[in-house]
Amino acid sequence: MADDAIYPVEPHTKIEGSRMSVELHFNNQRRDVAPGASLFDYAESLGINVPTSCRKQGKCKECVVEIIEGMDRLSARVPAEQHLKGNFRLSCSCRIVQDSGVVRCHTMRRGEMHIERDALHLPGGGQKLKPDPAVTRDGDRILLDGEEIARSTAPIHGLAMDLGTTTVVLRLLNLETGEVIADAAFENPQRFGGSDVMSRIHYDTEEGSHLLQRTLAGYLTHAIEAFPVDPKTIYEMVVAGNSTMRDLFFRLNVYSIGQSPYRSITELEMAEGKRTTTSLAESAKRLLLPLHPRARVYGLPIISGHVGADAAACMLAVDLANEERLIAMMDIGTNTELILGNRNKIFAASCPAGPAFEGGKISCGMPGLPGAIEKVKLNADGSFSTEVIGGGPPEGICGSGLIDLLSELLEHNRINALGRFEDGEDRVVVDARGDQPVYFTESDINELAQAKGANVAGLHIVFQQYGIRFDDLDIFYLAGGFGRHLNVASAKRIGLIPNLADAKILQVGNASIEGACLALLSRTKRRELEDLVKRVTHCRLEAHPHFFDYFVEGCQFNPVESPDVRREARRTAPEAGALPLES
Ligand code: FES
Repeated sequence: MADDAIYPVEPHTKIEGSRMSVELHFNNQRRDVAPGASLFDYAESLGINVPTSCRKQGKCKECVVEIIEGMDRLSARVPAEQHLKGNFRLSCSCRIVQDSGVVRCHTMRRGEMHIERDALHLPGGGQKLKPDPAVTRDGDRILLDGEEIARSTAPIHGLAMDLGTTTVVLRLLNLETGEVIADAAFENPQRFGGSDVMSRIHYDTEEGSHLLQRTLAGYLTHAIEAFPVDPKTIYEMVVAGNSTMRDLFFRLNVYSIGQSPYRSITELEMAEGKRTTTSLAESAKRLLLPLHPRARVYGLPIISGHVGADAAACMLAVDLANEERLIAMMDIGTNTELILGNRNKIFAASCPAGPAFEGGKISCGMPGLPGAIEKVKLNADGSFSTEVIGGGPPEGICGSGLIDLLSELLEHNRINALGRFEDGEDRVVVDARGDQPVYFTESDINELAQAKGANVAGLHIVFQQYGIRFDDLDIFYLAGGFGRHLNVASAKRIGLIPNLADAKILQVGNASIEGACLALLSRTKRRELEDLVKRVTHCRLEAHPHFFDYFVEGCQFNPVESPDVRREARRTAPEAGALPLES
């Protein structure tokens, strides 16, 4: 049989009931199976929906699964899997070849994510917005920017997307009424190309055939086709996302974002006078999306290579262009974005936190999906009480659970400010009710400390350069799905966010998708944002002379107090002439 052959289950293949059987755990379903079939076939027998556009032909590359245990019980990689590294396999192309043991795996889309349908406390949208979409109707004529693109009397729809490194959120709107029709969220399937933007840039540059974009387009196609409207009635899509995710999606070369001075190709072209904005427009067809054939995809403008269109969308959501008060907005993620200022002066920075607070690089970490421990309390007898998303047995622990856990361990002196266990152990078991115990190690704490250190360094440097103290703020917005669910007291105790009065801290959920919706519904807002991003001063943290000092300080688990602005000004005075700012 040729190396690249696919191994379908023959009609007579017995999936269950053989005396020789393998214990298969697929997306947390367990079944004893006879060897010989492909993981895709087992998934089908379990009723698990594996994304595919080629029906197991090894061509679409969408059926990726992550093997958690039992790689040595699977057939060798075939050429169709050459693009996959580490624990990732094409489920249609790998069979179970051993007749005993355990295989544990899951699809790239492990379940429905928490969806923040309603953003909270956001001044930028809602009632005040007068819809002014780019797609309009004149009788049965559908117009895009005034030009006829279709004839139909069916409703006109638009799609907003927040494209994160870890998660993808979609929201479908009726463009005539502004009504939300449906939304969806799933893990970004590009994870096989690495968990952070630098790995994805490296992968895309090496691989060179837009595979990351094609894979995502496949998943998006399934999500769009599951919406309760004809996809051909969707005439425009607006995309928010960090610069790398956005540019990858638009099939642009992202190499320059990965090299100092970390600029998107759109910024470089703007500097050369080849374009007047970093926003993007492309046809849905070229991006392989099943929308109306003449639908447009608009990418929101970015602020810099590492402060992207998601941060820009957040600025729109909080109406920063018209804000007189002093606000800060922090969207904690793989790359934490920080915005500070008001309509007169705006600073922005990107903190390279890594994926730890999204469950990446943590022994039992996982995104905020069903099965994730999201709340933790340490009891007087030393045991833990936990709350699991969806209420079932725990599979792992997500970001908000990790923050609670750290906070409780600190509060009860089980770890010290350096993140070391006081009892000399190197791990604790948090919950043993699931298939596998959920535990937490000293090296996990170290990963979280470093992620936190990057965020704290960002806070100190941006506030210091702006010349204000934390207390000078009127509002501190915590944006993002993760920011929405974390316990503020726990986050303050471990020093993840500034030690501010609770009344100043607002958890606003996914402000990025809100901003994308505003831009979808209003051309005026779109133009406002294109102007606003040009007025943002980007603080390049990595170039700051004291970044490392702040980072080391921020790795400790202590509350984050305001920098002494005058002291810091003196401290950086010798370098003042070369403050690492860029406009
Ligand atoms: S189903 Fe298409 S590559 Fe596996």
